[in-house]
Amino acid sequence: IDPSLDLFAEIEKLKKEKNAVILAHYYQEPDIQDIADYVGDSLGLAQKAAATDADIIVFAGVHFMAETAKILNPNKKVLLPDLKAGCSLSDSCPPPLFKAFKDKHPDHIVISYINCSAGIKALSDIICTSSNAQAIVESLPKDQKIIFAPDKNLGGYINKQTGRNMLLWNGACMVHEIFSREKMVKLKERHPHAKIVAHPECEESVLEVADFIGSTTQILKFTETDPCQCFIVATETGILHKMQQTNPGKTFIAAPPDNSCACNDCPHMKRNTLEKVYICMKYELPEVTMVEDLRLAAKKPIQRMLDLSK
Ligand code: 13P
Ligand code: SF4
Repeated sequence: IDPSLDLFAEIEKLKKEKNAVILAHYYQEPDIQDIADYVGDSLGLAQKAAATDADIIVFAGVHFMAETAKILNPNKKVLLPDLKAGCSLSDSCPPPLFKAFKDKHPDHIVISYINCSAGIKALSDIICTSSNAQAIVESLPKDQKIIFAPDKNLGGYINKQTGRNMLLWNGACMVHEIFSREKMVKLKERHPHAKIVAHPECEESVLEVADFIGSTTQILKFTETDPCQCFIVATETGILHKMQQTNPGKTFIAAPPDNSCACNDCPHMKRNTLEKVYICMKYELPEVTMVEDLRLAAKKPIQRMLDLSK
């Protein structure tokens, strides 16, 4: 594309011309967050996708998020700037293997974290996100047997919070598993007034040293309302942009990874760029599509979550 193009102006023009809305996750690069009509966590994004009257949804996030938007909007065009923007957590739970696991436990209800493919959603009874997982689990009777997939860390955290003993699928997110508890504790010693905020996809050892645990939106709200002036942030780095924008006087430090060669950027989320957003809006490609049977089966548990999260 012509390097002299003002991509911000061009994207704004395309939004109006095509009645398109840009929904972005907090892990997207700062430029994308700034041009988006809405930036949010997975629940907020699913709720916005369900409510929009735009003709085109540009989903600046990863594939399972755009897929969820398509499941909720079969008659709208859903564009994902880079179709290869996947998710290691979603990939850790292939539907045929999960189906075999589920078949071994026919008396269990399946709650799946939204970070999974449509195939897994179709095998689930209720979907949850990190912001409503506890409430969704607690909406079921205490003695209800539950399979929780695919994130073992979120599932383990919810087991601890609720005193349940859900059967956990052994999946994890490559970004949230890299943090080092030891390095975080040392960092906190150097910044004794700092608070550690963490996403529940982090390992238990990291969550144990956190002052606050929540979804991206919940973490952001906590840093806004808590009087503390310095936060060590154990989640993907994209969230730091909004944190700094909303709290210009406060200090945010990305939690250190275990291995200094690793980084807390999600390689999938970061596949999207402002250029790709522009190109996908101009050519209306790549588009997320789905066969109707799968869409209908995957919609049921998502709708159940939305109904429980009003
Ligand atoms: P939330 O924004 O819902 O907390 O999800 C985090 C995440 O890892 C999305 O991929
Ligand atoms: Fe998936 Fe983790 Fe990236 Fe979120 S941060 S999209 S869970 S790999």
